Formats: sequence, C-alpha cells, structure tokens
Amino acid sequence: MASSIVIGSDHGGLALKDAVRNFLRERGVEARDFGTNNEESVDYPDFGEKVARAVSGDAETLGILICGTGIGMSIVANKFPGVRAALVTDEFMARMAKEHNNANIIVLGGRVVTPAQACAMVAAWLDATYEGGRHQQRLDKIARIEREVAVPRS
Ligand code: RB5
Repeated sequence: MASSIVIGSDHGGLALKDAVRNFLRERGVEARDFGTNNEESVDYPDFGEKVARAVSGDAETLGILICGTGIGMSIVANKFPGVRAALVTDEFMARMAKEHNNANIIVLGGRVVTPAQACAMVAAWLDATYEGGRHQQRLDKIARIEREVAVPRS
C-alpha cells in the first residue's frame, strides 16, 4: 500500500471525487484533497498538475484524478516524469493498470462512470499487485523514452 494518496478533480469530477474520498475514508485511508471544492468551472490542468507533481516527486505516493471524461487529466498527468496515469472505465482495466502498467495515478471520468463503478475501480487498482517481470522491461523502455524526449526548460 502506498504511504499516501492524493486526489484532485475539476468541476466535472467533483461529485465523483467526494464519493471516492468517502469510500477511501471507509477503508481507513485519508486522501489528501487538492481540490476543486465547489461547482464553479475551473481548468483541469491546474488540479491535474498538483496531483501529478505530488506523485512525480514521491515514489510512495499514489494519485486519483477525475474530470468530466478523464481525458484531459490523463493528458496533463502523463507530462510529469515518472507518472504512469491510466484512464480506466471498468474494474478489469483498473486491475490491469496496476498489474501490468504499475500505474501510479488512476484517472476517472465523472461523466462516464457512476460513483459505485468508480469506487469498485479504485478498490481493484489499490488491491492489485504489480507483476513486474516482463512488464518491468516495458516500463524501463517508457522511462528511457521519457529521458530521451525531455527538453530542458529555457
Ligand atoms: C470540462 O467541461 C471538461 O472539459 C473536463 O472536465 C474534461 O472532461 C476534459 O477532458
């Protein structure tokens, strides 16, 4: 189990974020909530960045990101070094995201799945175990690509 879980959403994911936070609390996990915290329209990159930075900077931290579709948050999160953010729509994908991809951020669509489906996916992801082995060589290749395409800030 990760040492901590961070969670964030835009307005399109707010209701699902609250449901997932409550579900985690019932499991004894208090997720650090990076917002948003009201229905006002916001820009998903602002919240995706906060969560992805926290996960990128700490190997023991896992993240949950939610926007309307999950697409925007996935695009943002996967810009960050070391982040493997997986947009999932069912429990099988959520389990695979950990077993094969060792995803450290799970991304959900607040306008795509129900709160019950979202909580089941989060549980499947948290309870699964990364298999390593042949999958590690693939993650190593992703890490190499990430290093090679990194452009220093000017
Ligand atoms: C906001 O309306 C919506 O575009 C956002 O939540 C997300 O779906 C973007 O990918």
